[in-house]
Amino acid sequence: MAAASTRAAALLLTVCFLACYVSVPSLAASEDFLQCLSTTSIPSQLVFTPSSPSFTSVLVSSIRNPKFFTPTTVRPLCIVTPTNASHVQAAVLCGRRHDVRVRVRSGGHDYEGLSYRSERPETFAVVDLASLRAVRVDRAAATAWVDSGATVGELYYAVAKAAPELAFPAGLCPTIGVGGHFSGGGMGLTMRKYGLSADNVLDATLVDANGRLLDRKAMGADLFWAIRGGGGGNFGIVLSWKVRLVPVPPTVTFFDIQKSVDQGAVNAVTKWQTLAPALPEDLSIRVIVQSNQALFQSLYLGSCSALVTTMSILFPELGMTRADCREMTWLQSMVYVNSGDTETPVETLLNRTTSLSTFTKNKSDYVKKAITKDSWEKIFPWFNKTGAGIIILEPHGGKVSGIADTDTPFPHRSGVLYNIQYVAFWTGNGTDAPNWIKNLYDFMEPFVSKNPRGAYVNYRDLDIGENTVVGGVTSYESGKVWGEKYFGGNFRRLAITKRKVDAGDYFRNEQSVPPFVSRK
Ligand SMILES: Cc1cc2nc3c(=O)[nH]c(=O)nc-3n(C[C@H](O)[C@H](O)[C@H](O)COP(=O)(O)OP(=O)(O)OC[C@H]3O[C@@H](n4cnc5c(N)ncnc54)[C@H](O)[C@@H]3O)c2cc1C
Ligand SMILES: *[C@@H]1O[C@H](CO)[C@@H](O)[C@H](O)[C@H]1NC(C)=O
Ligand SMILES: *[C@@H]1O[C@H](CO)[C@@H](O)[C@H](O)[C@H]1NC(C)=O
Ligand SMILES: *[C@@H]1O[C@H](CO)[C@@H](O)[C@H](O)[C@H]1NC(C)=O
Ligand SMILES: *[C@@H]1O[C@H](CO)[C@@H](O)[C@H](O)[C@H]1NC(C)=O
Ligand SMILES: *[C@@H]1O[C@H](CO)[C@@H](O)[C@H](O)[C@H]1NC(C)=O
Repeated sequence: MAAASTRAAALLLTVCFLACYVSVPSLAASEDFLQCLSTTSIPSQLVFTPSSPSFTSVLVSSIRNPKFFTPTTVRPLCIVTPTNASHVQAAVLCGRRHDVRVRVRSGGHDYEGLSYRSERPETFAVVDLASLRAVRVDRAAATAWVDSGATVGELYYAVAKAAPELAFPAGLCPTIGVGGHFSGGGMGLTMRKYGLSADNVLDATLVDANGRLLDRKAMGADLFWAIRGGGGGNFGIVLSWKVRLVPVPPTVTFFDIQKSVDQGAVNAVTKWQTLAPALPEDLSIRVIVQSNQALFQSLYLGSCSALVTTMSILFPELGMTRADCREMTWLQSMVYVNSGDTETPVETLLNRTTSLSTFTKNKSDYVKKAITKDSWEKIFPWFNKTGAGIIILEPHGGKVSGIADTDTPFPHRSGVLYNIQYVAFWTGNGTDAPNWIKNLYDFMEPFVSKNPRGAYVNYRDLDIGENTVVGGVTSYESGKVWGEKYFGGNFRRLAITKRKVDAGDYFRNEQSVPPFVSRK
């Protein structure tokens, strides 16, 4: 009886939360918003409504996952494609005035598509920054200003063309947008030497919830702290980032070595867990586990001969030889890691076209204590099951782990050995991931970080929690559920900052940082 009424109360609460969340503005608000846009400096050809012939092509232009482009996907009321900061400011001001939220999209790679679709019925507009993507390199100062709409591939290319001795630490997929990527951290093959992308941000310009354009000084220390790893879509629209560029040698070396279970993959992965985070910072070795194979993929900031010596001493289990070395420029390595071919032109990095063919679902974990060999023996058979995908292990240690957990919102630093990313793939029309990924995630619980079980915000996963709305704003209590997984003890400071800069919770989505409310 008591249990039943508790359940009924819980249901009622859920219904209420949903009803409160779904603050669907009236049709009139939508029309007023569009009318407002038309009175601003935004040229009408930069505003796309569903009745515009190119609405669908603009919407789909950076969608990665067909899961979020179906007939039932909740789509935007309109897409604004600014070519000037003033257009972004105007869109925010119209949105505020007429109660229409905007979601900002840079590269569109959000794992849950939150930059262009809503999980629940909601009227919103998209501000798509793809046209704001200049990269201005100052070679002498070893800095660059990069606009959020640039892809990391465009950034790598522009930096190397202007200054071949310089590079930037960021992710592996060239079509990732700078805006979302830097907002959530930015892991890549040079993070052990240079830290995350966000660790190398020196200044930024942001449009806040009042439509003001602020630089680092004007935004103040808390907001500047929050935008460097506190997750995209929370505090405003970052238009541009000033970054520190980092030195790279003329020749770097890449290798891929695959070991099957029969060839000792279990031993090699077991050893890799503590070895990889402790290697010289110039050397990163990541692992991709698939079927009964472990692929060791490595970038070394130096030439082959030194690498072969290091590997024979530290990791003889891989049996690495000169024949495994692929020497190239750093820029080529960012192509090679995707193409596996040294002949692919570096201009490929400028290709922004994405493919919509494969459905994927990803989840993440952090490992702080090496998993035993016995446990790996039990983990490997998971990759032979029906619906099996892959896992990708990214080593930490070095600079990324040396920065204090509270220096930036990204808390997965000291003591973290590596990040695990689980990836499931499927084709066809279903939007549901195979059970494999959830079952493996459950199975892994004893082996990974706990209290809270950590996750990486750039690998966004709505399974770990969604906001509910109380009193017109997303609730701090609901945010804590997922927020402490992404940000640990930094979640509270993010929420306090949110309250300071966007108390009305204008920039909101299913997993946005709520404004802090203290419990009585
Ligand atoms: C194929 C693929 C490979 C990846 N590889 C890596 C990797 O190697 N390393 C890694 O760390 N991550 C990787 N990621 C994850 C990636 O870092 C995140 O998905 C990142 O958030 C994408 O940024 P975006 O601008 O492309 O995404 P978007 O979908 O445009 O944005 C992501 C989130 O940030 C918000 N946002 C976007 N632009 C801004 C802005 N200008 N100001 C404020 N908020 C903004 C959005 O509203 C949304 O909430 C990969 C993702 C994919 C799909
Ligand atoms: C935006 O417009 C202003 C005013 O016309 C101009 O000064 C500025 O250079 C423009 N910015 C960009 C990025 O085009
Ligand atoms: C999951 O990760 C893989 C590998 O990085 C990537 O190709 C895929 O796009 C990601 N999934 C989603 C939902 O974006
Ligand atoms: C750009 O990438 C897309 C998707 O991967 C591919 O189909 C297309 O051929 C590429 N275009 C060029 C010019 O390389
Ligand atoms: C997976 O299946 C392959 C082929 O059926 C087999 O050779 C391998 O031993 C299996 N691996 C594991 C870890 O069970
Ligand atoms: C997806 O659905 C469409 C329409 O129902 C159908 O024509 C198509 O064959 C399906 N595709 C797959 C891969 O199942």
